[in-house]
Amino acid sequence: MTIFKNKTDLIAYVDTIKSNNKTLGFVPTMGALHDGHASLIIEGLKQNDFVAVSIFVNPTQFDKQEDLVKYPRTLDSDVGLLSKISEDEIIVYAPTVEDIYGDNVVSTSFSYDGLEHEMEGKFRDGHFDGVGTIVKRLFEIVRPDNSYFGEKDFQQLMIIKKLVEKYDIPVKVNGCKIHRAEDGLAMSSRNMRLKPEYRNAAPFIYKTLKSAKEKFETKSANKVTEWVSKQFAKHELLELEYFIIADAETLKAVKRKSNKSSYRAFIAVYADDIRLIDNIALN
Ligand code: PAJ
Repeated sequence: MTIFKNKTDLIAYVDTIKSNNKTLGFVPTMGALHDGHASLIIEGLKQNDFVAVSIFVNPTQFDKQEDLVKYPRTLDSDVGLLSKISEDEIIVYAPTVEDIYGDNVVSTSFSYDGLEHEMEGKFRDGHFDGVGTIVKRLFEIVRPDNSYFGEKDFQQLMIIKKLVEKYDIPVKVNGCKIHRAEDGLAMSSRNMRLKPEYRNAAPFIYKTLKSAKEKFETKSANKVTEWVSKQFAKHELLELEYFIIADAETLKAVKRKSNKSSYRAFIAVYADDIRLIDNIALN
């Protein structure tokens, strides 16, 4: 497996790939890799000759310093997981903060036509400026033909599509299905930080999303939202931050259902001090 710690070497390597007319897929990550990340990489390998995986805990997308400090950094085991997928076709880019930002660790401000003001944007100040800054920078360095993002972070996926469209970045953005543990909990690097009782309680999130989907067939978005709030109010361990039924294109909360639109339910929940997000397609 080829691992690059700085962009100059990576850029030269990508030049060779391009001069040999090979295609390059790209999966940006913050590491602490799990089967959810692996599913994106496997999809990338099906469609490209090589897949670049970046492993970089991006400081500018954290609104709380404490989360940045606590974010798991497990490069050795990440490389172990990647080697099992493919030794020869995966390229790892694991830069330092300096390699990406120099001595100016700040994000650029982006407008994503309002997508950034909904849900995660309301609760995580500056988050999508940080995500846009790093992903644009990584696209410029890696220059992939295809990129892969999980529907786990559906709002991020929509924002990246908008970024690529607005800046005319020559890369295809592919959305990939949410990968779940057997008990339904969406895989996340944060799950490894859950204390056992919270890990046991967490599948309640997806269970509630599935019931909400069923209820949405016959009930209004408001009624379903009220029902979800009640379920969490009764729960002893999980605390609901938001539950929203939104238009899957604009991400705006649904006022009145129409059968011409696609809807999705989005949820953020605190399990102790760990924030978990999930979502589900409703129609
Ligand atoms: P990270 O949380 O490491 O996620 C990297 C990619 O894996 C994202 O596209 C995310 O949606 C996807 N992913 C995570 N869990 C998944 C699951 N259970 N099923 C399917 N896909 C899943 O998202 C980020 O990093 C960062 O914001 C990043 C884009 C790398 C920018 O720093």
